[in-house]
Amino acid sequence: MKILLTGASGFIGSHLKTALNNNGHEIIECSRQSGVDFNQQLNADAWLPLLEGVDAVINAVGIIVETGSQKFDIIHHQAPVALFTACAQAGVERVIQISALGVDEQAFTPYQLSKKAADDHLRAAQLSSFILRPSLVYGAGGASMKMFKQLAGLPVIPLVGDGQYQVQPVHISDVVATVQACLKQEASTGSQTLDVVGAKALSFKDWLQAIRAAAGKRPAPTLPTPFSLMLGVAHIGRYVMPMMSPENLRMLQAGNTADVKPLAQLLGCSPLTPEQGLKR
Ligand SMILES: NC(=O)c1ccc[n+]([C@@H]2O[C@H](COP(=O)([O-])OP(=O)(O)OC[C@H]3O[C@@H](n4cnc5c(N)ncnc54)[C@H](OP(=O)(O)O)[C@@H]3O)[C@@H](O)[C@H]2O)c1
Repeated sequence: MKILLTGASGFIGSHLKTALNNNGHEIIECSRQSGVDFNQQLNADAWLPLLEGVDAVINAVGIIVETGSQKFDIIHHQAPVALFTACAQAGVERVIQISALGVDEQAFTPYQLSKKAADDHLRAAQLSSFILRPSLVYGAGGASMKMFKQLAGLPVIPLVGDGQYQVQPVHISDVVATVQACLKQEASTGSQTLDVVGAKALSFKDWLQAIRAAAGKRPAPTLPTPFSLMLGVAHIGRYVMPMMSPENLRMLQAGNTADVKPLAQLLGCSPLTPEQGLKR
């Protein structure tokens, strides 16, 4: 297949690129590194030249915080909608949109709402599409994993709140396997939405201890910090560590879990547990 892969230089995109190349697909890379800026791709005409002969499109572009020229509404909503419109015009057989867990009727942050606007548009389009909603993705090269490893490696682990909110991390290899399975499905006009989660949910506190254990370290004491205090810190901390924005803390606290059965059915096997994934 000839596949246009947006976000090909990112964490998820680069793993997809390697796997799809290895499977013999022809990949057209798309990111600012390869000269395509979503800020300039706001109508279908801008996308059509990139879609010549393309069988499938995978959109793996996203930002976790807004900066000067990087706005949620443009990057997550307006540019993808222009891309989907162009896909319908060009007769692209399959669109795979990398959304995120929590991008549903309960969405409440600007990150989630901007992604939801694009997902809703894609669901209504005359296209064969998969909307994949990954939970926290971990594996080699992931920015969040780097931050969690640093946290988990401290002699005392600071927690936002009590750390009991649930997460269901999914290993990057399962995200890649999911995209590959979607590409193999029969094309039919219609949209399917799938939560892409790991085999097991656990508390955020246990997740950090599991990362520690995988590094061969004993469990460390934890230091719960009042959520309201952390929100205050995040207002300033976001300038040092952009991922630590108040909205991201709120999303973490809201929990990030889903039923794993539909994913296991698509894959034909269970995705990895955190213990299995962290060994990789
Ligand atoms: N990682 C996770 O845990 C996770 C969980 C759930 C959902 N997701 C979603 O999965 C998608 C990919 O996430 P990721 O972790 O791979 O992110 P990432 O590593 O930050 O990669 C983001 C990609 O988007 C591209 N990009 C950013 N701004 C752009 C622009 N203006 N124009 C064109 N390309 C642009 C980047 O390339 P350049 O910088 O070269 O432009 C990069 O290739 C995102 O939509 C994210 O919301 C991720």
